[in-house]
Amino acid sequence: MTLESTESATELANRMPPSFTLGVAAAAFQIEGALTDGGRGPSGWDAFAEKPGTIMDGHSPAVACDHYNRLPEDVALLQDLGVDSYRFSLSWPRIQPDGRGAFNKEGLDFYDRLLDQLLAAGVSPMATLYHWDTPLPLEHRGGWLNRETAERFGEYASAAGERFGDRVAQWVTLNEPVSVTLNGYALGVHAPGHALMFDALPSIHHQLLAHGLGAQALRAAGVSGGIGVTNLHAPVRPATRKIGDRLVAHLYDLLMNRIYADPVLLGRYPALPLYAKPWLRSIGKISDADLRTIHQPLDFYGLNYYFPVKVALGRGSASIPADVHKAVARLPFHEVGYPEYSSTGFGWPVAPDHLGVLLKELHDRYGQALPPVYITEGGASFPEPDTVSGTLADEERVTYLATHLGAALDATAPGGIAAGVDLRGYYVWTLMDNFEWAAGYSQRFGLVHVDFQTQERTPKKSFYWYQALSRARKAKG
Ligand code: NOJ
Repeated sequence: MTLESTESATELANRMPPSFTLGVAAAAFQIEGALTDGGRGPSGWDAFAEKPGTIMDGHSPAVACDHYNRLPEDVALLQDLGVDSYRFSLSWPRIQPDGRGAFNKEGLDFYDRLLDQLLAAGVSPMATLYHWDTPLPLEHRGGWLNRETAERFGEYASAAGERFGDRVAQWVTLNEPVSVTLNGYALGVHAPGHALMFDALPSIHHQLLAHGLGAQALRAAGVSGGIGVTNLHAPVRPATRKIGDRLVAHLYDLLMNRIYADPVLLGRYPALPLYAKPWLRSIGKISDADLRTIHQPLDFYGLNYYFPVKVALGRGSASIPADVHKAVARLPFHEVGYPEYSSTGFGWPVAPDHLGVLLKELHDRYGQALPPVYITEGGASFPEPDTVSGTLADEERVTYLATHLGAALDATAPGGIAAGVDLRGYYVWTLMDNFEWAAGYSQRFGLVHVDFQTQERTPKKSFYWYQALSRARKAKG
């Protein structure tokens, strides 16, 4: 689809319910840099990225977008963009360098400045407490494999709530625990680099426990903002109607989506199929008390959607190279891809219709237990140059965003397939090109181009489109 055939910003804004939030999202480790400045302690990601071969082309997160030193410039960009809200993450190791005990004044001051500048710019702050940067001393003690990390997280959440609770409008406890477990503990392609396959499962329970303890701590601190969690959902379809493909699609859905969402929203883990029990044994016996802790009342549910997955029975994987871990090649299922859709720089299918289907699935599955929903991330990387002279015409990103936002609005409008979902907003991933984890700086997702040699920020065409959308939404009231 070309930009010309993409729905105009005004038409799209007219379809938004009153006070629909438009935002952009980012995460501390991907933009801040200054990893050893201002009293910050090391995180598991600092250590992982130092190991040869972990990050594409040996890219380093040490400077990233140098956001720590360029705060006023970046807040000015947000103000110019005109978004209602900015989702950022607090860096746990910047705030509490050892992951326990003393808090770091300079780190707390940095986020005070960020919050004050955002509010002065008329941008509402949504703060994520954990976007993958575990303090290294905790990682050395087992990270999310150790239940203690959840307890430490509760203490950190309490301190953050006390300090920032008067200004943060919305709190997200965790970002995408599925990515941490899958990439960090099961496959070893993200920090902390463990390739434990199914023995990674305890990291799910401990993260969910951290969510519950964090939510309780924020409430106890009397924060004025709403509290939620952000889960990645990848709608799963079987490659064919054959029973084998349907069985593995069901298993994949359990392990990618429901095992994270059900305990939070329903207070129980999904029933796991008998045939999978031998692999899933490491999850152990879960107490009712833990489930009660995990099942906290939430003010909103954060949904990250990027792409759908199609799976088939049988070994071999199109999307996970077998050399990541030999065990992957032994799994009884594999992803088959979606050749009918165009794809992003990462090779992810561009499938806006599946966002509508996902919202319907969430409503069917959780009904009244689903609080108001914010799509806390959506966006795409496309091959783009390292340097630019002028505005980059990133039509594909504009189309991606317009069609996904359109699909979400369609689905949740009266009479839509997911009309029961109370959709409150959409956050574009991301404000500016940044450190895309194991892909380094090779995948550019930003509305703003960043030249990583000079740190020059240059808004792309998608920035101006989103600005027009924000203005049109505000004009509508
Ligand atoms: C989700 C993660 O939350 C974010 O950190 C990442 O950059 C995007 N996906 C894109 O991969």
